[in-house]
Parts: sequence; structure tokens; C-alpha cells
Amino acid sequence: MPIEFAARIRRIPVYPVASGYELGADVAMLASNESPFGPLPVVVEAARRALVGVNRYPDPSYASLRRALADRYGIPPSRIAVGSGSCDILLAAGEALLEPGAEVVYAWPAFSVYPHLAAASGARAIEVPLDSCERHDLDAIAAEVTVATRLAVICNPNNPTSTALPLEHIEAFLERVPRHVCVILDEAYCEFALALGDPFASLELLARWPNLVLLRTFSKVYGLAGLRVGYGLCGDERFCEAVDQVRQPFYLNAVAQAAAVEALKHQDAVEDRVTRTIASRLALEEGVRGLGLSLADSEANFVWVRLPDSDDQERDEVAVTRGLAERGVIVRAGAMLGQEGRLRVTVGTDVENARFVAALGELL
Ligand SMILES: Cc1ncc(COP(=O)(O)O)c(C=O)c1O
Repeated sequence: MPIEFAARIRRIPVYPVASGYELGADVAMLASNESPFGPLPVVVEAARRALVGVNRYPDPSYASLRRALADRYGIPPSRIAVGSGSCDILLAAGEALLEPGAEVVYAWPAFSVYPHLAAASGARAIEVPLDSCERHDLDAIAAEVTVATRLAVICNPNNPTSTALPLEHIEAFLERVPRHVCVILDEAYCEFALALGDPFASLELLARWPNLVLLRTFSKVYGLAGLRVGYGLCGDERFCEAVDQVRQPFYLNAVAQAAAVEALKHQDAVEDRVTRTIASRLALEEGVRGLGLSLADSEANFVWVRLPDSDDQERDEVAVTRGLAERGVIVRAGAMLGQEGRLRVTVGTDVENARFVAALGELL
């Protein structure tokens, strides 16, 4: 007799992992929206120092990281949730808020972890199509909110489409949503968004909407994806308490905490990297347009390329991603992310981006 699993194991989608990890060093890894820049040497040093003490459990209150984030964003540590990546907070929010009979609403395509929330909890998922510019349709999302809705997730800028909505639109959405609904504004890429102003702009919303959580990460702009650190800036400290209740103690390891605290001290370097990423994004977009293809308006560290129309988009997309992989470039096929006929391409180094454009040119 095989092991008998809970029914939700049949519902929970398997995360579409990127290929390419087995291909060795000479590969342009443009599939996971990571930073092409390694961590700063001072951050590596802080992580190394923390390693010496790992015979002890990490600080279970994550006090130094929450204090550092509180100082940066000017909100009390009691309203800052931290996690092993922002995914950890997202999944914990699903567990804390959802159950059979409850509803969660989000746009689709959006971040591939969102469908997990309903599948794991037995809640109903309402997926609202993007508008014709591949942005969130906030009116349509607000129209889906009912008395059963516990959670709305808005991804801004949106993964995988790279588009962002101005904060006034988010504000108008929050006006329409009842206060019992937790709204998670997933801002994993907000630092790259020229359209959103600076990463402090959305903080103002927290003062007015206690049901709001701004979800952010050290995986992208701080280049610490491998250490797994995320945080939520929350309108209500009860959100932080609830997501702690459903998780194991010590969910964020000591090395990751130390690295994140150090990384926060070097905002000049972070800004410099953002500037360089945006410059590279513009060059990458120009290269793609030079091949006669169009892209969504990117406000992130990745682009969403529209492949030429064909009678079999999925077949062509598979052929293109395979051809790119053979040329040492790993990207994500749109069909895996909810929209066929697209490629999601992370902004890498200028050399990697040029390699992608050249390889794509050969294949088209
Ligand atoms: C929109 C969005 N949110 C959250 C995450 C999760 O990031 P992490 O768990 O690494 O903090 C990602 C990762 O790609 C993402 O694209």
C-alpha cells in the first residue's frame, strides 16, 4: 500500500522550477529574476561572522533585523513580519487567513505561488484576468470581493508581466475593499519601478489601511536570494502575530538575519545596482525590439517578451526556450507562468543580455 497523503497534496500545484542548474558555469541564468550582482563583501563577512555562532538557535524574535527595518521604514518593529523569503510570509498568511468557505482573490497571471494559498487551505481561489496591457484590473478584482473574501493579493510590479500600476490606483482599490479583507501588496520588485516613485511611497498607505501588508524581499534588489529573507510591513501587528503562530519557531536562520541587517546599511550600493539594472533593462528592451518583437512596459528587473503570433504558440515557445538553453541561456516560458506566447527574461549582466538577444535573433 502506498503512503496515503492529505487530499490537499493533490490540489497544491508543483512549483515550476527553472532548469539550468545542472549546466555549469557558462550559462546565462535569466529565469528567476535574481540579481546578477553577488552580495557585497561586507555582507558576506557579516554572514561569515554569524556562522561561528550557529551552535545556538537564532534569535526567535528576530529583534535586530526587525529593528533595522523599523529604523529604515519608520514603523514599529511590532508591525514588521519577517520570514524565510517573502514566500514564507505569503504561505503563512494563507494558513492564518484561509479555510474552506473563505475566498482569496488575485490577478492571473501573477506570481506562481498564489494558487498554492487556496489549494493548501481549501479556500476558493478567484483569479481575475489582467487587462489588455497585461496589468492588474483592479476594478474587476474589487468586484470579486464578497463577504467570504479574506485575502486579496496585488502584485505590483507584477510577476511575470513586469507591469506596475501607480499608487493612486492601489489607493482607490483599498478604498473599495472592506476592512475585514487583508490586502497583501506584493512589492518584491518595487525598488526597480520608476513609475512607483521611491520604495517609501507606499508606506503612507499603511497609516490609513490597517488591513494592508507590504510584502518585500532581500532576494532581488539586495542580491540575497540564496539566503532566503523576506519581510512584511504591516498595518496591524496582529498580522505579524498570526503568521508567527502558524510557523515553526526559528524560521529564519542566524546567517540570513545577520546578512540582511548588514545589507540594509549599504543603500548607496543598492541604489547604484538599481540604476545599473534599469540601464541594462533599457538596453535589453532595445535589443528585443530590434528583433521586431514587442514587450510589456517593464517596471521590474525582468522583461515580458511577446513572441510572434503563430497557430501553435506553445510549440513555438517550447522550441525557442529549448533553442536558447542549447545556446546557454535559460529563461522562463510564458506557458509555465500562465500565458503562452511569452518569454520572461531576467535582466542579467550586459554580456548575458546581449547573449540572449543574439541567441533569440538566431532562433526567430
Ligand atoms: C512577486 C514575487 N513575490 C514574492 C517572491 C518571493 O520571493 P522570496 O521568497 O525569495 O522573498 C517572488 C520571487 O520570485 C516574486 O516574484
